Amino acid sequence: MANEREIVVSGIRPTGFLHLGNYFGAMRNYVRMQEAYDCYFFVADWHSLTTHPDTKELRESVLRVVAENIAAGLDPEKVCLYAQSAVPQIAELYLYLNMLAYKGELEKTTTFKDKVRQNPENVNAGLLTYPVLMTADIIVHKALYVPVGKDQEQHLEMARNFAHRFNHRYGDVFPEPTAFNFGADLVKVPSLDGTGKMSKSENQLSTLFLADSDDLIRKKVMKAKTDAGPTEPNSVMPDYIQNLFQLASLVSDEGTVQKFRDDFNNASIRYGDMKKALAEDMVRFIAPIREKAEAIYADRAFLKKVLDEGAEKARDHAQQTITEVRQLVGLNYL
Ligand code: TRP
Repeated sequence: MANEREIVVSGIRPTGFLHLGNYFGAMRNYVRMQEAYDCYFFVADWHSLTTHPDTKELRESVLRVVAENIAAGLDPEKVCLYAQSAVPQIAELYLYLNMLAYKGELEKTTTFKDKVRQNPENVNAGLLTYPVLMTADIIVHKALYVPVGKDQEQHLEMARNFAHRFNHRYGDVFPEPTAFNFGADLVKVPSLDGTGKMSKSENQLSTLFLADSDDLIRKKVMKAKTDAGPTEPNSVMPDYIQNLFQLASLVSDEGTVQKFRDDFNNASIRYGDMKKALAEDMVRFIAPIREKAEAIYADRAFLKKVLDEGAEKARDHAQQTITEVRQLVGLNYL
């Protein structure tokens, strides 16, 4: 069995459609990790309740995000895929950890302060203890590595603190998890309007979603910001043109990228042609993922089997930790 492999845990928020930034930032990492680690990847549906109390769309969002991740290359035979809410052991561990987490440190968390600012009428205790629940997600499986982006570093540091405190108070059970990604740097996927990265909250027309139709992909790429082009050889390349080259380097073959790079350096580039080529390469890249995701999303029997089997495996694994934890805390009376 894969028992000796190191353990990786990551949570996927079930809010919104996945985009190219998620694909190159997170999902591709997951796909590589599934070969080398014991991976537990789950949909963070309890976490979503902290900000999205209305659950009308929850079910479809959860199923879609699972379908999109499988379409992007996650193999349910290799990784344990489940909904967080199917593993009550996480909630139990969260309860113990809540007694080790202090109000002051929770209030200082950057994401908490952001959420309070964005949504002052719903500052609930779940929001405050978001990092505690996230810690329980991770350490209930005794994970060593957590593939997350920069925005989650602070949460992970808190997870190490909470794990350390538990170990110190009750006995050594939990490794302290660290952020980890395959390859040194996470690939940044620039947005098409020349500002920042692709993201679901920013301008939707400058973000390519894995669910976008071929025509929508073409339309978005053709609208990307350019200019009249360089007037002399070896000009300095503006940021928004660099971004187009960065996108091309992700989905186009090297020869094509090099040809346009040469054209730029000769001051003979036609951005219209470059964008047309990029649009077609994007379509070629995204369309198969979109079609696969649609087929999986429609196959409810398959999704149920994946999530049921994942949940059972995750519960069994988490229960081993909870049994130990109950013993250490001193809750085994007779
Ligand atoms: N907080 C993460 C995010 O916003 C999602 C998440 C929840 C998570 N629990 C986790 C990520 C455990 C890694 C490990 O993206």
